[in-house]
Amino acid sequence: MSHGEAAALYAHLASPAGRDDPYPVYAKLRQLGPLVGVEPGFLIATSFETVDEVLRDSAFGVGGGSGRLLDASMLNNNAPDHTRMRRLFAGAFTPRRVNGLADAITAQARELLREMSAAPGRQADLMADFAYRLPVGVICELLGVPIADRGWFRPVAADVALELEGEMTPEEEASRQSAAELLTAYFLSLVRDRRRSPGDDLISELAASDALAEDELIGNLALLLIAGFETTTNLIGNGVMTLLDHPAHLARLVADPALAERYVEEFLRFDPPVQLTSRVALEPTVVHGHDVDPGWFVMALIGSANRDETRFADADAFRPDRTGNTPISFGAGAHFCLGAVLARLEARIAFPLLLGCLPGLALAGEPVRRSRMVLRGYETMPVTWDRS
Ligand code: HEM
Repeated sequence: MSHGEAAALYAHLASPAGRDDPYPVYAKLRQLGPLVGVEPGFLIATSFETVDEVLRDSAFGVGGGSGRLLDASMLNNNAPDHTRMRRLFAGAFTPRRVNGLADAITAQARELLREMSAAPGRQADLMADFAYRLPVGVICELLGVPIADRGWFRPVAADVALELEGEMTPEEEASRQSAAELLTAYFLSLVRDRRRSPGDDLISELAASDALAEDELIGNLALLLIAGFETTTNLIGNGVMTLLDHPAHLARLVADPALAERYVEEFLRFDPPVQLTSRVALEPTVVHGHDVDPGWFVMALIGSANRDETRFADADAFRPDRTGNTPISFGAGAHFCLGAVLARLEARIAFPLLLGCLPGLALAGEPVRRSRMVLRGYETMPVTWDRS
């Protein structure tokens, strides 16, 4: 399972060209095998089966902390801390509670699209004006974060989200640190306010209980804010770009908005907002018949698993009509995305409304991608549309 070629492919994946279009690199890695050794103690799971196996294997855990904001969050902790924290937040994300937000999401989406369609010259930035604002509005409402603050969240959260990427340049590390300090101070003051005058919201509820240490409360609030919109923003942005690249499919969705559910599932498979995650072996285990020693690092390539031909026929094609579509875009096992129901609901509501309010949607300039290996999406996407 070890290949010299793997190290070169991995280096390419981390380069600007690889980040821009990782899919051909993933295909080459899959040709080397479902579990590829890059160097001693560093493996890459490339197939659907091995990614799923690694994420579900309790012999693997998430990596240790290095003094960052999200270290104390559930995402970066193992049982029993992970289990305790996740249970506390899970109540806010039950399908029943989330589905109860459908009308509020629809109202927010309509309002944003009304503002957008009134833009002078029928031009707007789809990312800033819609793809970002909808999920951030929804998560602010769910957590009880004042909506008026959402203006400054986007760059700050994008910088804190650098913690989810493998490597950072010194400049990125500096931006990450100041953003983390800003967000920590913000949440600390919000928590103090809610302790003084509680409201009917999740932050008030958690601030009043002593179930979480202060760094855990702040770390998880930051995680929810970031996970709550960085990813969903990119699901909307990547989905719009996929439609613009496939005009016949776009026309079909316009004609039949009831297809939104299938389209969203295929957007998630075809160009997932989270491309990879990683694990460390906490004890000896076996993956796909190979022994893995404690301390070994395994990268689980979600974006590659979703293009695995042995799982998805014609995997490189965008085919919203595929049956039994089960992308692994929300992960698997203990850390399976807590917000999967919410993200799907937001996207299923957003796409038909977006296409209905902005007929003839088209690019008005070159979209700019964020150069990231983990969170895949656009910084800006200038669009235009016909008069509605
Ligand atoms: C399309 C949108 C989204 C995608 C693709 C996505 C993807 C993921 C993935 C792959 C993981 C697992 C990471 C790992 O195993 O290391 C995860 C975890 C998580 N996600 Fe999402 N997510 C999305 C939206 C959301 C939303 C809307 C929320 C909350 C409002 C959310 C909250 C979380 C949380 C709290 C975790 C950590 C769960 C744990 O550690 O137990 N996500 N997400």
